[in-house]
Amino acid sequence: MSWGRDTRLFATAAAGTEGALKAELRDLGLSGGKAARGGVRVGGGLEAIARLCARSRIAVRVLIELDEFACADERALDRGVGAIAWERWLTPDRTLAVRATSRDSRVSHTGFLAQRVKDGIVDRQRRLLGARSSIDRRDPDVGVVLRLERDRASVLLDASGASLHRRGWRAEEGAAPLKETLAAAVVRLSGWDRERALHDPLCGAGTIPIEADLWARGVPAQRPERRFGFERWADHDEDARARVARERAAGEARVRADGPACAGSDEDPEAVRRARANAARAGSRARFEVADLTAVALPAGAHVVANPPYGERLAAADVWPALEVAVARWRAAGHPVSLLLPDDAPALNPPGAAAPRAHSLFNGALPCRLVTWDDPKG
Ligand SMILES: C[S@@+](CC[C@H](N)C(=O)[O-])C[C@H]1O[C@@H](n2cnc3c(N)ncnc32)[C@H](O)[C@@H]1O
Repeated sequence: MSWGRDTRLFATAAAGTEGALKAELRDLGLSGGKAARGGVRVGGGLEAIARLCARSRIAVRVLIELDEFACADERALDRGVGAIAWERWLTPDRTLAVRATSRDSRVSHTGFLAQRVKDGIVDRQRRLLGARSSIDRRDPDVGVVLRLERDRASVLLDASGASLHRRGWRAEEGAAPLKETLAAAVVRLSGWDRERALHDPLCGAGTIPIEADLWARGVPAQRPERRFGFERWADHDEDARARVARERAAGEARVRADGPACAGSDEDPEAVRRARANAARAGSRARFEVADLTAVALPAGAHVVANPPYGERLAAADVWPALEVAVARWRAAGHPVSLLLPDDAPALNPPGAAAPRAHSLFNGALPCRLVTWDDPKG
């Protein structure tokens, strides 16, 4: 048995990046997505699930909605969970984990909710099969998510498995790296056209230029050998395996050998070494060099995209005046500039530059804004 085209999917994303994810899904041929808080709802079958997992750069998880029902108390939850045919995906030899969230609802204790869902699932297994799954919170075969919002429960399966920001190439991180999924969203929200060069003059582990290069060349976000959560479920039979393999091969076939020049620089030689190693592991053509941000030479028209160091740990105070001067110089030379700044960072007012457009989003729990001075020539 497999997933039909009317399957309801919810791709999760960092708050503020839902619109970018929706645009990405459209590019991946998954139209009709509806942005909601924390992600995008979209319909699609097994091929769409595989495509989303393998190729979305912005989605953090891909969830499949099994059921939705009114849930004002635990009895309603028990009834709803007990009515789902879990044995289709979860046999007793497969492990299970349940996560829960609650918002504006009478039952708010997420630990209690997760426990109750888990109990409902294993009770049904015992009743029907005489045996139950064991729990593996770290790496379950079947991950279940309960989302309770205004006393309505959604019960979902986690099709992606481990978080999709883990691409497998960033073995070396350095201080304050952006999650790969957020870096991909920032690149898209910057308005970079995937034709002009892109440069990150504060590149750290190189996440922004690497994600930009891979996106521009159509490289799938996940390596071909990565296995997703849904591939470990009981319903993933030979036919499903063959369809997923075909879908993934079609994605790999779209990769372009060349693309716009994506590059980064950093004053720290160790950061540059790490960025180069990460690019090599990722199969990225992004180039990196050691340079102070005030001295870096940009290719004509390059779009500057960066997240400057900010906060005590990264001694932001030193970099701010230099950054203001550098942005003014880049603007005067006609470079579009996009910077991800925490909300409480002082405003940058580079002399001579008009007010930037700003987009609010979260970097983990930190409220931020992506400010962009667009190409003055439009
Ligand atoms: C927040 S980190 C960037 C993280 C990066 N986006 C990533 O995902 O790994 C900021 C970087 O700016 C670099 N930096 C600080 N001052 C600099 C300067 N004046 N010139 C060049 N690089 C600088 C630091 O070495 C650090 O690697």
